Amino acid sequence: MCGIVGYLGDRPAYDILIKGLKRLEYRGYDSAGVAMIHNGAFSLFKCKGKVSDLEEAVGMQDKSGNVGIGHTRWATHGPPNDVNAHPHASNDGTLVLIHNGIIENYASLKSELINRGHVFKSDTDTEVLVHFIEDIRDKTGANLFDAVRIALSEVIGAYAIVILDKSNPHQMIAARKSSPLVIGVGKDNEFYIASDATPIIEYTRNVVYLEDEEIARLDRTDGLKIVTISNQNKDPYVQELEMKLEAIEKGGYDSFMLKEIHEQPRSINDSIRGRMNLGMGTVKMSGVDEHADRWNKATRILVVACGTSWHAGLVAEYLFEEFARIPVEVEYASEFRYRNPVIYPTDVVIAISQSGETADTLAAIELAKEAGAFIFGVCNVVGSSIARATHSGAYTHAGPEIGVASTKAFTAQVSVLYLLALSVAQLRGMMRPERLNRLMAELNSVPEKIAEVLKTNEDVKKIAEIYKDSTNALYLGRGYSFPVALEGALKLKEISYIHAEGYPAAEMKHGPIALIDEEMPVFVIATQGASYEKVVSNIQEVKARKGKIIAIVTEGDKVVKELADHAIEIPKSDDSLVPLISVIPFQLLSYHVAVMRGCNVDQPRNLAKSVTVE
Ligand code: AGP
Repeated sequence: MCGIVGYLGDRPAYDILIKGLKRLEYRGYDSAGVAMIHNGAFSLFKCKGKVSDLEEAVGMQDKSGNVGIGHTRWATHGPPNDVNAHPHASNDGTLVLIHNGIIENYASLKSELINRGHVFKSDTDTEVLVHFIEDIRDKTGANLFDAVRIALSEVIGAYAIVILDKSNPHQMIAARKSSPLVIGVGKDNEFYIASDATPIIEYTRNVVYLEDEEIARLDRTDGLKIVTISNQNKDPYVQELEMKLEAIEKGGYDSFMLKEIHEQPRSINDSIRGRMNLGMGTVKMSGVDEHADRWNKATRILVVACGTSWHAGLVAEYLFEEFARIPVEVEYASEFRYRNPVIYPTDVVIAISQSGETADTLAAIELAKEAGAFIFGVCNVVGSSIARATHSGAYTHAGPEIGVASTKAFTAQVSVLYLLALSVAQLRGMMRPERLNRLMAELNSVPEKIAEVLKTNEDVKKIAEIYKDSTNALYLGRGYSFPVALEGALKLKEISYIHAEGYPAAEMKHGPIALIDEEMPVFVIATQGASYEKVVSNIQEVKARKGKIIAIVTEGDKVVKELADHAIEIPKSDDSLVPLISVIPFQLLSYHVAVMRGCNVDQPRNLAKSVTVE
């Protein structure tokens, strides 16, 4: 999805916009643009490509102005090119607008406007929106603030917008519905605005999260005014940001993804800290204690999520069914929201999202809420839409995740879900204290074990060198390791563009085994545990068809090491904790393969960090 940024103050806007867009580039990176107001005129620059291409295009041209807006795009309507890039101007050129989201009724609005003489340059829904606001302003004589509100009351879809009027360089108008928008409050009515807090943190820690269907007027004289789409006044609720600036820097690593892979011992520690008391043998999850009645009465757990978060949800299914003996269904949020699912008021719905802004997950939450279910969120971004939409929840304290391919958020999610399952088992009296203690102690040792596995980085790199030119790959796992097979395959797909599939190891015989020959690398999680013997047989079935085996094995394993072409050892742990440790070599492998193939690991093609439209 797109990244939007804006500035209104005494400083030169251009540098702040460009720096902000670079911080937001993980949200979408196929074209970019900025517009500033100077001497009553717009300087508007936009082009296909990255923010660095935009800087080149601007070069030494005049980029003055103390108010401006900027946009980095993930194309929805119209291919990435110079014309479809944002900002878009009104028919008379007095207004410019940037937008993150989709205007669903743009086609009907467009034909009405064409009948009224409007001329469009681009294929975008966004250009229609700024023309529509202009039309309302001209037809009603309303000021821009009111014209935006009136126009948005007739718009269907998702939006975060910022709009400028060249005749009024002391003001910015912004609005949101479904797409995120946060306002940074500086001194003396200086304002920053952005899709998330990363472009704002270095200037101010005071922020206001705009709620759905709110419109804001940011004015150098009158300050910040917020109204709802039905024109109700809203007092701005200023919050202080917790995030640290260095958390959004690369910290000496070649990429955010590599940094985030290596941050996992710390991010898991931060996600479990203060949530278990090993001395007392108790787990303390505020979202469980405060809503004990809902967890006690729960007859079923529904997990709703997308992508990597869905894989974390699949691990949670195994955890809750084993520890708390509650049936779990793991739902792709995009399917769940349109399947007219059967939801009971006694259901607990766990919504998992790193960004907290994924549109399908948000919609699945609203659907379950209407049916009276109790919604528990697991999010990584503080103040995100999903965090604010749920009845209760737990943050994963992984810190900002900038690399588009999720890594540390996955292990932080699984750690928090692990504690949640233990906490509910404890609440419902489903686990003996000594087992609870042992599992808590084992969870507590996971960061150290991951630090050990990170030392295999060079070995993994050598394996990546061998398979970097593969065209396909298969990932196999059983039980708790099945979701990790799916996650390993997703990582390789999304950053190296090699087609890969994850499968339950036993399911291989029912089809995928047909794909296996000497060209097919087969990544298998074969750690010693409940299904070890079964996995060994699956490996032999692959070997019999000349497939190449790359196995994740338990330290000291001899049998699989003998069978496999390559083996990566990980420390022994309870089956239920293997997902947290065995995923690391898969993250590293996909990273090295992608780098060796010359791919941009932090900003893979066609992807975006948070999917805020359907
Ligand atoms: C994972 O690497 C991808 N970035 C993607 O699948 C992601 O997990 C999915 O879009 C869900 O995002 P969320 O956790 O922010 O909701």
